[in-house]
Amino acid sequence: MAANDQDHRDTRDEGELLDKIVWPVRTDRLSLRRATADDADTIWSWRRLEEVSRWLTFWCTDRDEFAAKHLTAARLGRTLLIERDGAAVGELMLRITDAWAQAEVADHGKGLQAELGWVLAPQHTGHGYATEIVEAALRLCFVDLGMRRVFADCFADNTASWRLMERVGMRRELHSVGESLHRDGTWRDGYGYAILAGEWFDRQR
Ligand SMILES: CC(C)(COP(=O)(O)OP(=O)(O)OC[C@H]1O[C@@H](n2cnc3c(N)ncnc32)[C@H](O)[C@@H]1OP(=O)(O)O)[C@@H](O)C(=O)NCCC(=O)NCCS
Repeated sequence: MAANDQDHRDTRDEGELLDKIVWPVRTDRLSLRRATADDADTIWSWRRLEEVSRWLTFWCTDRDEFAAKHLTAARLGRTLLIERDGAAVGELMLRITDAWAQAEVADHGKGLQAELGWVLAPQHTGHGYATEIVEAALRLCFVDLGMRRVFADCFADNTASWRLMERVGMRRELHSVGESLHRDGTWRDGYGYAILAGEWFDRQR
């Protein structure tokens, strides 16, 4: 919503909420755990690649700059590492935000939605790992954390990302036209996807 009030966002600490989960969370082939500062080089091993960071918020070619930007306590608190047989295959962001709400009812919308983001190391794409782990993350959000809505955004040109969202049952609910400036200097379209708790529970039946 255009009139979103940034003061109403980010008031709940996802780090604290995620502390309540029993880690690792396991799926058929993968596991998910909290990232730590010791994962810096692992995350950097894919983040430094242009093909991986093409559609991400930032791309650093310098490891120390990356560490300063990405490995802050706040960012680490919302970063989960995806592993297969103990080896990292990618990362998942889980960020808790407040719902947009009018001022009089803002307290009732606090900490009720989660934003997801995903990155796989290039050698691990094409195996359904992102689908498997995002499905697990949706379960975590709706069943364990009691979220009412999960959302994710991407550049419209990031086909792999929005196809993933559609595979896991998220709905395209926003198409912004020429709104996002890419680091290559071009203005691009953006997509917003979301799924409500009720929709997710219906899909499980
Ligand atoms: C977005 C991203 C995570 C998607 O990765 P992905 O490999 O396409 O997604 P999945 O891991 O779910 O794999 C799906 C693919 O594996 C195939 N696949 C193989 N086995 C599968 C299985 N058991 N289940 C589901 N899909 C399977 C699917 O057919 C699909 O292939 P296709 O795209 O050729 O149809 C990846 O492209 C990426 O990390 N991009 C760079 C970072 C980025 O842009 N992140 C998003 C920012 S908004």
